[in-house]
Amino acid sequence: MPKRKIAVIVGSLRKDSFNLKMADALMGLAPPTLSMQTIDIGQLPLYNQDLEDEEKPPVQWIEFREAMKNFDAVLFITPEYNRSIPGALKNAIDVGSRPYGKSIWNGLPAAVISVTPGLLGAFGANHILRQSLVFLNMPTMPSPEAYISNASTLFNPDGSLNNSALIEYMTKFMEAFAAWIDANVKRS
Ligand code: FNR
Repeated sequence: MPKRKIAVIVGSLRKDSFNLKMADALMGLAPPTLSMQTIDIGQLPLYNQDLEDEEKPPVQWIEFREAMKNFDAVLFITPEYNRSIPGALKNAIDVGSRPYGKSIWNGLPAAVISVTPGLLGAFGANHILRQSLVFLNMPTMPSPEAYISNASTLFNPDGSLNNSALIEYMTKFMEAFAAWIDANVKRS
């Protein structure tokens, strides 16, 4: 079985981000068939179509688009900002989707996890993100879903998850994602 390369895109730029902690924790829970790498989206200049039309795309856009060609699938882990996704994440999605016809997202299997210290699991962000992924032709794992609430109570000081039920659930989530990737891997 080939090792699948997963780009992990975290919607928060905060250094102590719960979503980033979840990404790090999942690296230890994922099956060995998955190789996971976090991709930095914080350095991407805001998307402006003029730069594309004038053939002056910022170097960060070019590097991001090139880097994403190395992956078989994408795992999005995002907070909710005002019942939607953070602007940084939307910007990364927009940058990756252009130039027209050359979207880096096209056909890549995906999964979505949302993490919040609040009570509603960042459901709004999770589903608003899924809306873009439909348009981008990314087969996105429908189930199991992961709406993680009360994030401030879930991590040990070393960043590991402290809740055995959640560890079990997220382990199963990653196993299901591995199977989803195998079933939907992009064939070019
Ligand atoms: C938030 N937060 C928040 N939480 C939530 O559950 N639903 C929401 O709509 C919002 N809205 C929101 C807007 C803005 C601008 C900020 C800065 C924050 C709180 C948010 O969940 C909290 O700050 C998390 O800690 C952000 O995730 P990270 O950075 O810990 O990964």
